[in-house]
Amino acid sequence: MASAPPPRPRLVVLFGGRSAEHDVSCVSARHVLAAVDPARYDVEPVGITRDGDWVLAEGAMKALAEGADGLPESLTADGPVVDAIPMLSGSSSPAETADEALTVVLPILHGPMGEDGTVQGLMELAGVPYVGAGVLASALCMDKVAANNHLAAHGLPQAGYRWLTVDDETHGGVRRPDGSSSIVAAEVDDAIEALGLPLFVKPANMGSSIGVSRATDRDATIAAVELAASYDRVVVVEEAIDGREIEVAVLGNESPEASVAGEIVPGADFYDYDDKYEDGAELLIPAPLEPDELATMQRLAIAAYRALHVEGLARVDFFYEPDGRGWLVNELNTMPGFTPISQYPKLWAASGLDYPSLINRLVDLAIERHDRDQGHTRTDH
Ligand SMILES: Nc1ncnc2c1ncn2[C@@H]1O[C@H](COP(=O)(O)OP(=O)(O)O)[C@@H](O)[C@H]1O
Ligand SMILES: [Mg+2]
Repeated sequence: MASAPPPRPRLVVLFGGRSAEHDVSCVSARHVLAAVDPARYDVEPVGITRDGDWVLAEGAMKALAEGADGLPESLTADGPVVDAIPMLSGSSSPAETADEALTVVLPILHGPMGEDGTVQGLMELAGVPYVGAGVLASALCMDKVAANNHLAAHGLPQAGYRWLTVDDETHGGVRRPDGSSSIVAAEVDDAIEALGLPLFVKPANMGSSIGVSRATDRDATIAAVELAASYDRVVVVEEAIDGREIEVAVLGNESPEASVAGEIVPGADFYDYDDKYEDGAELLIPAPLEPDELATMQRLAIAAYRALHVEGLARVDFFYEPDGRGWLVNELNTMPGFTPISQYPKLWAASGLDYPSLINRLVDLAIERHDRDQGHTRTDH
C-alpha cells in the first residue's frame, strides 16, 4: 500500500514583538501572510504583543480574508494567550513519522527581542527549524559594537568608530572599554579629536534609526550621546561618511548569493525613521554602478555575511566613497523589512526571485540548516 504524502508543513509566522519596530513587523507579516501559498503551507500566524504575550492571531487570518488591508497594523490580544515552547514544538515537532507535519517558524520580528538572538534561542530550545540567522549571528548583527569589532577583526572596511558605556549611576559618567571611567564630555572631546566632526551617534542595540543623531559640534555630540544612552547603555560614536548609501540582499546558508544593488536617495538630512517608513527616501534599483564596482561590493557583502556567521538572509548596507576609501560596511540586518516594497524583497525581485518564491526559498533554507545541524547534535551515532 502506498503511504499518503506527508502533510503540508505548518508555517508559523511570528509577528509584532516587544521592540520599537512592532508596527513595521505587523505590516511585513500582513504581506507575508497574503503571499504564502496555502496549498504549500498550513499557515499559522502568531502575534507577540507589545507586552510580550504570544497570541494565536485568529483575528489576523479573518481580517486577511476581508482584503489586503484588513489586518490591524498593531496587534491587540485577539486570541488565546499561549505558552511559546509548547506552541512551537507541541505535537507537531519536526517530523519523526511521515504523517506528522513539520513545523517551520518564520520570525518576522525586527529589533531587540526578535532579531537579536533571543527568539532564535527559544526556537533552538523548541527544536524547530526557523527562517533567518541563528543565535550568534542575530546577536552579533543587532549589537553595533559587537558587529563593528567583529568586522574589524576580519579586516572588513568600515567607518572609524569608538564606543563607550554610559553609566546609569553617575549622571554623565562613562566606563571606557578598558574599564577605566571618565565623563561624557571628555570622551566626546577624544572622539572629536580622533574622528573629526560631524559625528554619528547611535545606541548599540536598536534599529530603524531610533536614537541615531548626526552631530556637527561638541555640545550636539554630548546631547546625542545622552539621547542614545536613553536607549542603550552602550553608545557608538562614528565618523560621518560623506558618501552614497548602497545596499545588497544576501540569501543562503553555506553558499550565500548577493542580489543586485539598491541605492538610497535620502529625502531628509540622513536616512531617518520617517524616511524609512513614512515617505521621503527613494530606492534606486539597480544602483548605478560599474560592473567591477558591483562585483567588489557583492564580494564584501558575502565576506561580511560569513564573518558574522549569518545564514538564511541579511541585507548588507554600505557607504560608498567612490573617490575615497571605496566601500565601507555600515551594518547587516538579519530580519530586514519584508513588505513587497521593502528593499530586501525588491532587490531579489529585481534579481529574478519574486516575493512568494523568496519566501519558499527561505523556508527551504531553514529546513536544510535544521537537518544539517541535527546531524551534529544527535546522540545516537
Ligand atoms: N557613519 C555614518 N556616516 C553617515 N551616515 C550615517 C552614519 N551612520 C549612520 N548614518 C545614517 O543614519 C542611518 C541609520 O544608521 P544605521 O547605522 O543604519 O542604524 P539603524 O540600525 O538604526 O538602521 C543610516 O542609514 C545613514 O543614513
Ligand atoms: Mg540601518
